Amino acid sequence: MARLLIVYGSEEGQTAKVAKHLAEFFRDRRHQVDLIFGKEVPADLSMTVYDGVVVGASIHMGRHQKYIVELAKKHCNDLTTRFSAFFTVCLTAKGETPAEKAQVEQYVQDFMEATNWYPDQVGVFAGALLYTQYGLVKRFIMKSISKRSGGDLDASRDYEYTDWESVDDFGDTFLAAIAGESVLTDN
Ligand SMILES: Cc1cc2nc3c(=O)[nH]c(=O)nc-3n(C[C@H](O)[C@H](O)[C@H](O)COP(=O)(O)O)c2cc1C
Repeated sequence: MARLLIVYGSEEGQTAKVAKHLAEFFRDRRHQVDLIFGKEVPADLSMTVYDGVVVGASIHMGRHQKYIVELAKKHCNDLTTRFSAFFTVCLTAKGETPAEKAQVEQYVQDFMEATNWYPDQVGVFAGALLYTQYGLVKRFIMKSISKRSGGDLDASRDYEYTDWESVDDFGDTFLAAIAGESVLTDN
């Protein structure tokens, strides 16, 4: 059994959903998981007690949550000395064009440069368009972004693009690496 930490940032809940999915995925495989919303991380949190750490964040207006950037910066050394993974959630990740792929890579690169944390594993997941849950301004912004990228425009409904199989693959890869790298105690 490994002791794992998942910390996430989320505005409308999709990254929270991915983080919770991963937590359940790990718990189903008998690992101990602490799942913490990035805004509620205790000031005295120590990452050194964990065998592996996953950090997730989403993109809004081209940036990841500042509180996640600050957290990764603060814990950069501890993240680097254990197996660590980062995943990003955004709408661009549902795109297939070279420009969209390059944009997502740039989001991740910007995060790594801003935090000086270069995770062992990186995941990129398409997010959600939650038109019915946005206020007027957000709905307008998201319709404009969607229009530019040839995305869905019917604002009377929501769209979830997250590929849950690829989230599970990310979880599998993470656990395989943890099993290979640390001495795990059986329960
Ligand atoms: C106001 C707003 C701005 C966004 N800006 C971007 C963006 O610049 N690039 C992108 O790929 N996705 C963008 N998105 C899409 C979000 O990343 C996507 O909806 C994701 O699922 C949000 O995850 P969260 O609910 O965990 O915050 C934006 C969404 C909103 C609501």
